[in-house]
Amino acid sequence: MKKTAKAHVNIALIKYWGKKDKKWNLPLTSSLSFTVDKFYTKTSVEYKPLLTEDHLYIDDKFITGPELERVKTFMDMVRHLYNIPYFAEIISYNYVPKKAGIASSSSAFAALALAATESYDIHLEPKALSALARFGSGSAARSIYDGFSIWHEGYDHITSFAEPIKGFSDMAMLICMVDQREKKIDSRSAMNVLEEFPELKSDWISKTNMLLNDMVFAINQVDFEAMGKTAELHATLMHELISKTGVKYLNETSHEILDLTKWLRSQGHKVYATMDAGPNVKIIVKKENIKDVISYYEKICHVVVCYEGKGVHLL
Ligand code: DP6
Repeated sequence: MKKTAKAHVNIALIKYWGKKDKKWNLPLTSSLSFTVDKFYTKTSVEYKPLLTEDHLYIDDKFITGPELERVKTFMDMVRHLYNIPYFAEIISYNYVPKKAGIASSSSAFAALALAATESYDIHLEPKALSALARFGSGSAARSIYDGFSIWHEGYDHITSFAEPIKGFSDMAMLICMVDQREKKIDSRSAMNVLEEFPELKSDWISKTNMLLNDMVFAINQVDFEAMGKTAELHATLMHELISKTGVKYLNETSHEILDLTKWLRSQGHKVYATMDAGPNVKIIVKKENIKDVISYYEKICHVVVCYEGKGVHLL
């Protein structure tokens, strides 16, 4: 039976960068994120006995090539795990700029994981659904949940899943849309480049583990400032690491926004920046402080105000 699922994008506060197992998509470290409300994917799946392969439509376009191959690999895993004998028609709509560092694969594979199982009447527990979504795209493991979630790195398919944690109810993000075009190198390919730099890996793992501890402590202490500072530091470290592997995501406008954020902090505003695999910058701010800072960012680029988004669900 055809089922449609909706999932929101999440933005990592402690990033996932690098894999310890490519086949199962297991990360080098655990990570932690915030699901946002304005960007999402809606996906329908219907298994059809007469199909001889999966058919994929994204935003009304029939998809072939590597994008289809990635979805087919995911669907093969779903078929294998749950003994589903049919190919599927998959229809997906993205309400998020694709591959622009707004983590579109997080909402895409979370929605696909739920629709692909429910349409065959398989009802997974959130942790199992999270592990399945992870197989499609690591960040998707965290889009299963509302608000804050932590993805435990684990050591195999079953143990590498995300779960929700109690975060800040007054959290907001200003997404500064520096550039909405598709980036030249997607996060998966850029992450794979890290394989060629084993000497950078161990330092990244130990720093990430340390900052994840700081982040969990800040959240438990309800210390917004410490949470924001830790997120900004980790994003900065990730971009330093990425640039050492020869990839550059941030552009001049991104740096202008980062400088503005530091200046606003020097003026007493509690704003912190985080950036993913693209030039767009996300500003962490309390809901009540948005009005004090938003006009500064709007002078530089288009800003989307995001609040806590819902976890994946059926429509
Ligand atoms: C920078 O989840 O897109 O957004 O598992 O290969 O699909 P794959 O990678 P993906 O990587 C996201 C990287 C990031 C950081 C993060 O979301 O944690």
